[in-house]
Amino acid sequence: MDDGFTTRAIRAATRVPRVDQPPSSVPIYQAATFASADAEELGDVTTGRQPGYVYARLGNPTVDALADAFAALHAADAGFAAATGMAAIHLAVTSQVAAGDRIVATRALYGTTRSLFSTVLARAGVATTFVDVTDLVAVEAALTAAPARILYLETISNPTLVVPDLAALASLAHRHGATVVVDNTFASPYLCRPLALGADLVVESATKYLSGHSDVLAGAVAGSRPLIDAIRALHVDTGGTLAPFSAFLVLRGIPTLALRMERHAATAAVLAELLEGAPGVEQVWYPARPSHPQHAVAARQLAGGGGMLAFELAGGAAAGRTFIDALRIPERTASLGSIHTIVVHPPSTTHRQLTPAQLADAGIAPGLLRVSVGLEDAADLVADVQGALAAARAAVGATPATPAIP
Ligand SMILES: Cc1ncc(COP(=O)(O)O)c(C=O)c1O
Repeated sequence: MDDGFTTRAIRAATRVPRVDQPPSSVPIYQAATFASADAEELGDVTTGRQPGYVYARLGNPTVDALADAFAALHAADAGFAAATGMAAIHLAVTSQVAAGDRIVATRALYGTTRSLFSTVLARAGVATTFVDVTDLVAVEAALTAAPARILYLETISNPTLVVPDLAALASLAHRHGATVVVDNTFASPYLCRPLALGADLVVESATKYLSGHSDVLAGAVAGSRPLIDAIRALHVDTGGTLAPFSAFLVLRGIPTLALRMERHAATAAVLAELLEGAPGVEQVWYPARPSHPQHAVAARQLAGGGGMLAFELAGGAAAGRTFIDALRIPERTASLGSIHTIVVHPPSTTHRQLTPAQLADAGIAPGLLRVSVGLEDAADLVADVQGALAAARAAVGATPATPAIP
């Protein structure tokens, strides 16, 4: 007897084509489930006795291709890709800690990561001590004060662009038995490979430079096989699974990472020089400028200055607001590492979770502006920034207008 219409329709529409020639890009395996030939294979694949796929939270070929690519970029044994950068950070940290453990973290930290440590993990009984990681004596004191499971760092910090000495800090942490986790989002694997400097896990928001086009959220972690196996197991229980299409978009960005990073950095260097010499600019932070507080570390540790810079205008937050509103080309939004130049005022956006005291502790001045330099033509950005600086100077210098007589 012939099968009914719907049975035939399901079978007809889910027949997977045989492809003998490998495609030039990784296909999007948009499937929640993968069927086994028999019950024994299903049991073996589900329990990991046999490699393969069953259910996409346990593994998906497109997502695994991204995990492997990220591991390869960092010359790591293994990698894992997650739904967002925060999901990746959460996995990297919570796969290592339990109630009663302690973390020592850089105080120059992305706002949501700080919030993860000081609220979510604190509630779960994991305490965090925030330190100035450019001060090795202070870090050693924090590691000595009580046992620490993790030393948590950012290669180039968000938003103040602090560049800690990763090799020195990793060997210090290892002497005290701590695992070193480094958020490499601002640098990308093109500028820095923290595992080669002694870190145990490197994590990135792939939402940023890896994908590069402001069209996807994703995160990735790389490190030794046992550390990544622990992350993979934790993820099975917690979810936060990356969608195959999102993995495809990040994979699509990776081949042009070097080209984009070179262009981001070339334009950022021009803008940093312009800002540093401009009237009305109090301070500029750009790792490749000799004025950067950790310039020597940056020169040793980074393959260039990168695409991020920060600066402070005379006139504080009010001047900053005028500057941002006067810009024509950059997007006024959060995020970074995009084709678009993006300008933000961190205290009211990316670091809004921080109290005024925490902002001060993180070195974030009330008027700080952060720029993620995009891929637009440098001359256009220069003209735009010059115009916005003039607008900010005029606003700060302007005497209040005489009220009109009605
Ligand atoms: C340094 C840094 N780490 C992690 C994240 C979190 O990434 P996601 O937004 O993909 O969760 C961000 C986001 O801005 C970031 O700037």
